[in-house]
Amino acid sequence: MALDLAATRSQQWSHIRQLALMAASQNEHGTTAGIALGVGLFDRAELRPRQLRVMPVFPGDLLDAHTSNGEVLVQIAGRSREAVAQAAGRLLEGASAWRKRWQIDGFRAGNRVVGNRGLARNPFHFTEGFGNPAGERETLDRALVRAGQGEPDWAVGGSYQVLRIVRCATDLWDAEAPEEQERVIGRRKDGQWLDGSPAGEEPGFAADPRGKITPLDSHVRLAAPDRRRPPPLVRRSYSYDRGDGDTGLIFSCFQRDLAQGFEAVQRRLAGDALAKYVLTVGGGYFFVPPNGHAWTDVLAR
Ligand code: HEM
Repeated sequence: MALDLAATRSQQWSHIRQLALMAASQNEHGTTAGIALGVGLFDRAELRPRQLRVMPVFPGDLLDAHTSNGEVLVQIAGRSREAVAQAAGRLLEGASAWRKRWQIDGFRAGNRVVGNRGLARNPFHFTEGFGNPAGERETLDRALVRAGQGEPDWAVGGSYQVLRIVRCATDLWDAEAPEEQERVIGRRKDGQWLDGSPAGEEPGFAADPRGKITPLDSHVRLAAPDRRRPPPLVRRSYSYDRGDGDTGLIFSCFQRDLAQGFEAVQRRLAGDALAKYVLTVGGGYFFVPPNGHAWTDVLAR
């Protein structure tokens, strides 16, 4: 859920600290909760993560104010919808300085871990997660802000989070032949590459320069054309189902650099064969602070 400050602005960092502590205490109840900061909180430019801004409207987006942006993002995860709803209730009850701006429930169908990669089935019945690194080191390397990157000191070890609420035209998609769906994505449903390479290995795009096997406008080929230099981001998305056919993906990704991560990929996806089947209706840019709470002291100073 996304929250906005309902109290005096000059006290924002003590309210953030309180919210962060309350989020951390949800772990005792078998749920995990964490916060990410929106650009609206930063009234001092020198403390603002350098690339943090209101998420721009990308070509084709139809952003709904009821599912976009917010001064803070609270992400709660748990084993059941009930456990998550209870944690959300406890948090909102204790957080009187905040009012809810919007919220969305998500789930990960067929959630599992294979070779250190988290996998799930998306609303188009395809396996997601293979494009993420298999190891923790590469994951952290892509996601976490480093010293010397030109970011404020307090932000080192934090991460830029991009959220995109993407509505999926599942009826239109389900009417396509499976082979066509696979050409649109550029992988088979189980993750295997179209040239037969196993899901966890690299495909032979170099041997297929004209896209006869894996079309040049397929989602994966546009997202990551150069297999030696994968885009520096880590994805962790959820499905949503709000009834009346309103289903889709809560796309979420983390990166140390927004321009090299999400924005570079999003720009390449302009001619994506998948575009016909999806509509981005919300989301936002946020900054996940580093572990611990030392950063709240710096920001409150
Ligand atoms: C509803 C929208 C979307 C769907 C259904 C979707 C689906 C998929 C699928 C099935 C894969 C292949 C499996 C995998 O590597 O995880 C994939 C890969 C990928 N997608 Fe998406 N995706 C969507 C939106 C996006 C967006 C908005 C971005 C970023 C701007 C993105 C970036 C990527 C990247 C970087 C890969 C990995 C490519 C690779 O390394 O091979 N996707 N996506």
